[in-house]
Amino acid sequence: MSEVITEKKQTIFSGVQPSGKLTLGNYLGALRNFTLLQEDYNCVYCVVDMHAITVRQDPPTLRRQTLEVLAQYLACGLDPAKSTLFIQSHVPAHAELAWILNCFTMFGEASRMTQFKDKSQRHSDNVNVGLFTYPVLMAADILLYQTDKVPVGVDQKQHVELARNIAQRFNGTFSDTFVIPEPYIPREGAKIMSLQDPLRKMSKSDENANGFILLMDKPEDIMRKCKRAVTDSDTRVVRGEGKDGVNNLITIYALATGKTPEEVEAEFAGRGYGDFKPAVGEAVVELLRPIREKTEDLLRNKDYLESVYHEGAQKAAYQARKTLDKVYRKVGFVQR
Ligand code: TYM
Repeated sequence: MSEVITEKKQTIFSGVQPSGKLTLGNYLGALRNFTLLQEDYNCVYCVVDMHAITVRQDPPTLRRQTLEVLAQYLACGLDPAKSTLFIQSHVPAHAELAWILNCFTMFGEASRMTQFKDKSQRHSDNVNVGLFTYPVLMAADILLYQTDKVPVGVDQKQHVELARNIAQRFNGTFSDTFVIPEPYIPREGAKIMSLQDPLRKMSKSDENANGFILLMDKPEDIMRKCKRAVTDSDTRVVRGEGKDGVNNLITIYALATGKTPEEVEAEFAGRGYGDFKPAVGEAVVELLRPIREKTEDLLRNKDYLESVYHEGAQKAAYQARKTLDKVYRKVGFVQR
């Protein structure tokens, strides 16, 4: 007689800010993995509009971009029947837990967050308290769902580690309440660099639009940006120290075509950047074409998007409430 062992699926949580257009970096570092993980895990993915307002946003644009990120989740292959997809501000437990966790986060540890230091320099006219406690809200996002793994790019690793520390402190003060989450960083693509300054990460807030590729960019724009990508004075398509631009393009081409970096080097042996850069452009165009077309289709179907985020928020709120009730009891709040 065969024995059936049903193991409880582990939980994955991640989020993306609707604070601009999504880049190839967001896709290769995060969204692509969200989709790969949904078969084997209980996945919860959120559009974090509350995080986005830590930097001044134009309200109609924020509303539009929030739906656009949701549409892009779906276009990348997330299936609402398998994963919970919702908008952060629709589940008030995020804000409620964030307050409690603020009281379990030390001023010193929040001050060490490199993203806070970067952003407060870039937005020196608006260094608001929300920007400072941003990682605490992120910890609330993660801990509410008893998350095991958090798929993110390298730039978010420090924030996930803070969430671990906060969870450990809370559990240690009371008793086991939160699962201790782990960052889940892809081996390749965890930090896609700017095409114009390959020592900096590809970012939608880059002033030079040639530095980033957007998921919604037109094929001719993608080709132009790849052809203009900064490389080096060597001509060989191989990885190496000081060849940051080429290293980055090899990573992008490998991920877009499903080849290993070694296979890419072999494919372009004896050929120069003049052949390589347009090939990267074509591979990225083909990678992003179905995502862009599907996103455009979905954005024409607002009713469907609404049904996805309504249902997602209901499922998320149920899970989140269970954790929040436990937390309220532990800290000593009187039951309502
Ligand atoms: P955000 O919106 O800046 O970025 C979304 C995801 O994309 C990854 N990423 C990159 N990966 C590789 N190369 C790049 N150039 C690149 N640029 C961005 C980010 O690491 C991220 O995984 N604070 C988060 C959003 C968030 C969150 C959460 C994430 C809020 N709550 C809870 C995980 C869990 C952020 O700003 O991501």
